[in-house]
Amino acid sequence: MTHIRAMTRNDVDDVSRLLGASWRRTYSPIMGASTAARLSDDRHTPEALATELEDEDNMSFVAERGDGSIAGYAMAVMDKQGDVMLERLHIEPQEFGSGLAADLLHAVLAAHAGLPSIALEVIEGNDRAVAFYRKHGFEVVERRQAAHGVGGHASLIMRRLLARA
Ligand SMILES: CC(C)(COP(=O)(O)OP(=O)(O)OC[C@H]1O[C@@H](n2cnc3c(N)ncnc32)[C@H](O)[C@@H]1OP(=O)(O)O)[C@@H](O)C(=O)NCCC(=O)NCCS
Repeated sequence: MTHIRAMTRNDVDDVSRLLGASWRRTYSPIMGASTAARLSDDRHTPEALATELEDEDNMSFVAERGDGSIAGYAMAVMDKQGDVMLERLHIEPQEFGSGLAADLLHAVLAAHAGLPSIALEVIEGNDRAVAFYRKHGFEVVERRQAAHGVGGHASLIMRRLLARA
């Protein structure tokens, strides 16, 4: 059984490893192996993840298997205007197609019930992620040129309207 729960400081090492592996696997074909590794290693240290947990505008979830291992992770951030971005959603490849990503997404959406919409930025070329988000009601609302996208790569801003309470 895998269950979704709030991330804690005890998870930072596992989540750092999961992000490092997922960035290398997902983004090496798009931005090159060394850039993908460098960007992930810079951003996703256990210390950085622990600092994010202290920020009340961030909300982080993990999917924990019955054996205690971490199978997935999602993080959303609310900006000063109250707009929420799904910043990260990563699951282990053996979970692809299992519905776990949808469960994590729904945990994030449930935590933000009452908001008009939620947005995210996805690197162009990450076709599996774009297909996943489209399937879950997100639409492309903006294309960012390479100079303004993640890691100097063109990206898509997608947004999903949420039912208002
Ligand atoms: C993005 C992610 C969370 C989605 O979870 P998932 O379990 O793989 O998603 P699903 O299998 O439910 O949906 C993916 C869809 O894309 C389709 N797909 C797979 N590869 C594809 C490709 N190259 N091009 C287009 N569609 C593709 C799948 O068939 C599936 O659609 P279907 O359910 O209609 O068959 C997961 O793949 C992941 O962790 N990826 C690595 C990290 C990442 O890219 N995160 C997003 C950062 S913004």
